[in-house]
Amino acid sequence: MLKKKEKFEEYMTTESLFAPYSVWLAELCKIQKGMHVLDVGCGIGVSTFPLLDLIGPEGKIEGIDISAHLISRAERRATSLQISNAAFSVCNAEALDFPKSTFDCVMSSFTINQVSDKQKALSEMIRVLKPGGYLGFTIPGLDHYKEFFDIAAKFFKEDQFSQRKNKLLTELESYQSNLKNLGITEWEIFSKEKAYKIATVEEYDVILQTRGPKNAILLNIPEDQRAKVWQGILDQFVKIFDKDHWLHLTVTAQGLVFQKPFMDELQ
Ligand SMILES: C[S@@+](CC[C@H](N)C(=O)[O-])C[C@H]1O[C@@H](n2cnc3c(N)ncnc32)[C@H](O)[C@@H]1O
Repeated sequence: MLKKKEKFEEYMTTESLFAPYSVWLAELCKIQKGMHVLDVGCGIGVSTFPLLDLIGPEGKIEGIDISAHLISRAERRATSLQISNAAFSVCNAEALDFPKSTFDCVMSSFTINQVSDKQKALSEMIRVLKPGGYLGFTIPGLDHYKEFFDIAAKFFKEDQFSQRKNKLLTELESYQSNLKNLGITEWEIFSKEKAYKIATVEEYDVILQTRGPKNAILLNIPEDQRAKVWQGILDQFVKIFDKDHWLHLTVTAQGLVFQKPFMDELQ
């Protein structure tokens, strides 16, 4: 019988998995002590708080997210840890509430793939970045949550996810054409993969819920059937867990990083 997912603290559950991806992106963006950094789509702050060590007490980080609920959780955490150089606000990535050339570095972890108008969001991130500053974002890689999608595909008894790989490939290409449209001509692409062992179905459930795949899977299922469908999927996890005593989860990311040109040639 599943325990209530409320038993799991979302931050603690997801931090160990995703904080390393934020630090990785920050290093690719050459984050340094004293910098003023923007984290676009910060959620509960899993990608934000780990950067405090990199910018030091003299630096400042601002996290924005479209979800007021997630921002209030990030704020509560900052208050409880008595962190004074991290600020959070509710804001849409497509209309950033900051003047141009505000930040030394702009980062966005696993968020741009969820934004409706990606070119508008990229244009906004470039606008608020100082010339010469680095902008980097990650999107889920080809095998992101591979094990979960395999289970979900078996549960639905059809490979309704076969289009996934092609879609992701197309996505990366489309970001690059967005950048060209915005006058950016040079960037670098990186990738990172990590495999984790998850101890319980409840923990896996929290990860899938907070990171988005659960909602993505249930989106096309009528609302009154969602709980039943989700329970069916979790039951498949229970079977696998019984067999090898661990649940496997692969996290992969593709990161794209570029430097805003010094000359103010951008619109
Ligand atoms: C998968 S979470 C990533 C959270 C965090 N960056 C991390 O790595 O832990 C994606 C986040 O993007 C946010 N988001 C989606 N669309 C957005 C938009 N248009 N503007 C700002 N945030 C958005 C969601 O609310 C969610 O918190």
